[in-house]
Amino acid sequence: MNLAIFASGQGSNFSAIVKAIKRGKVKARSVLLVCDKPDARVIGRAKKAKVAVILVRREDFASRIDFETAISQRLKSYKIDLIALAGFMRMLSPGFVRKYRNRIINIHPSLLPAFKGSHAIKDALEAGVASTGVTVHFVDEEMDHGPVILQQEVRITNKDTLASLEKRIHSVEHKLYPQAIRLFFEKKIKIKGRKVEISNP
Ligand code: GRF
Repeated sequence: MNLAIFASGQGSNFSAIVKAIKRGKVKARSVLLVCDKPDARVIGRAKKAKVAVILVRREDFASRIDFETAISQRLKSYKIDLIALAGFMRMLSPGFVRKYRNRIINIHPSLLPAFKGSHAIKDALEAGVASTGVTVHFVDEEMDHGPVILQQEVRITNKDTLASLEKRIHSVEHKLYPQAIRLFFEKKIKIKGRKVEISNP
């Protein structure tokens, strides 16, 4: 199975996935990084791990469609089975989602459908809820939406700060995302309509 990880920022999930591949826990034949930000920390992580990098800047294209077409063209020769979005700060167009239907997954730091958007951890903390969590889901045409593959709850205590909650959520992400990718590669994930069924996890 060939994996493309799309990321724009820090890349801690990227590193967790690559580590799981290197340890043989996730059986990927190849892995590459698609990044849209030349100064993102994730690029340094990829270089250090000897993972191929495709850098495609949105500013170099007149439209989102042209930008995504360039990504698709660059991906062609890699015969990608799965795209894992890991902090990729762009919404993919419906056309791109259709092209890779049920082959794009995302990780989000909340128990979706609660707290969509890019400040999910802060929003949960400020809302005063007792727990939040992490969701891995298939990507559809809507933001932070699509059939849920795995979810894990993270309790919020009254001592939590944004930093302490982020830390616990990220450590859950770093286990949950490799697990979801492993299940996908082992063909244990079936989509039935809007629902996901997982066999012998
Ligand atoms: C993670 O919290 C992920 O859930 C969200 O973006 C963040 C990316 O973090 N989609 P990192 O770049 O993997 O460290």
